[in-house]
Amino acid sequence: MITESDNQRLTSVTAGTPGGELLRRYWYPIATAGEMRDSWTKRVRLLGEDLVLYRDRSGRMGLIGEFCPHRRASMAYGIPAIDGIRCPYHGWKFDTTGACIEQPNEPEGSTFKDKVSLPGYAVGELGGLIWGYLGPQPAPLIPKLDGFVVEPAIRMIGHSLVPCNWLQIMENSCDPVHTEWLHGHLQEFVEEQRDGIKPSFAISKHHVAIAFDEFEYGLYKRRLYEGQSEDADDWKVGHPVFFPNLLAVGMRRDGSRTYSFQIRVPIDDTNTMHYWYNAYAVTADVDVPKHMLEEVTRYEVPTRKENGDFRVEMLDAQDVMAWVTQGPIAKRELEKLGTTDRGVIMFRKMLEREIAKVEAGQDPMGTIREPEKNTVIDLHVEYDKSMMSDGIASRLYRAQAQFYPHVKDLVAVLEAAQTKARAERPLTTAR
Ligand code: FES
Ligand SMILES: [Fe+2]
Repeated sequence: MITESDNQRLTSVTAGTPGGELLRRYWYPIATAGEMRDSWTKRVRLLGEDLVLYRDRSGRMGLIGEFCPHRRASMAYGIPAIDGIRCPYHGWKFDTTGACIEQPNEPEGSTFKDKVSLPGYAVGELGGLIWGYLGPQPAPLIPKLDGFVVEPAIRMIGHSLVPCNWLQIMENSCDPVHTEWLHGHLQEFVEEQRDGIKPSFAISKHHVAIAFDEFEYGLYKRRLYEGQSEDADDWKVGHPVFFPNLLAVGMRRDGSRTYSFQIRVPIDDTNTMHYWYNAYAVTADVDVPKHMLEEVTRYEVPTRKENGDFRVEMLDAQDVMAWVTQGPIAKRELEKLGTTDRGVIMFRKMLEREIAKVEAGQDPMGTIREPEKNTVIDLHVEYDKSMMSDGIASRLYRAQAQFYPHVKDLVAVLEAAQTKARAERPLTTAR
């Protein structure tokens, strides 16, 4: 049973709170590399802090507090310098650590600048993304998950600002049976209303067993559907939550392999930036348009219609609908948990345990400091996902990927890769 104060302890993301201090031990994506090539600054709100990511004229990136300590103008309109950025209002200059290094209109020899500064945080780059870290130094390494480093790959990142606390989103990733209803029976109902018939694909398969296993970096969840053998990948392998805020799924098709990460970045207590990061590694020898391989394509995922209703005919918007309708911060003290909620309970216990570690001055789960442990972190996922076994195009168009600007090219590439791989397969294993 969770009390109101337990709930606050687990869900608060701001500095000085138990949850907020834990979350400050991890790196978060805050921009794509392409965005920061096209512009000098980007406003970033992260863990309740208003920040500006900027690039100086020597190419270094800084993540500093948004409001100038002089008279509080926004550094998002700053003027980049060789060694920092100047406030647009009176030209005070700050370096990437947030130190004030020049005040052009103060008398020569003044030491006033040494007394003022902005918060300044660590910035890194991985997988075509720029990452920020707001915790104590020395910062750990950014975990090199397989999908961030696999090459060559077609990479894309969809984003949507979700107006609720990050934890209810993560709890959804520890709740396998929701797929049966939210993506199954609800989908069937929506399509039945729209088309007069139920859809032919069925992801409403009933779960006969679910299981959760903790591993070094988080938690694996597994499921067994009615009629499935225990040899099925869904049950034997499953897929992981990489603690605390990333869900990894993926699949292997003939000619390609998909690495999919859902990254939940806490903006503040009641807002989360949701990222869908996909890397498609094409293994068959087919032509991939060059622009698709060059950098991560960023796009917005609209989860609501113009009238404000969620697009419940789209798989990813079904999840967002469930998260948001639980409220800005779900009132866990009012819940009545059932037997299938044991993954949710397990995740909360892990969170509580890791908060206690940080309070005791230790590194929490997922802190990686040794480069040799971080060459590539291979996340094993079920290759043969029975829930997603329909065709390439219908799979992509049913989900958030429909908003990827090059989705048609992607379908064409994956289908060509599939055809080629199947044609080249030795006859003995042909299907
Ligand atoms: S407000 Fe920034 S220098 Fe004056
Ligand atoms: Fe879901």
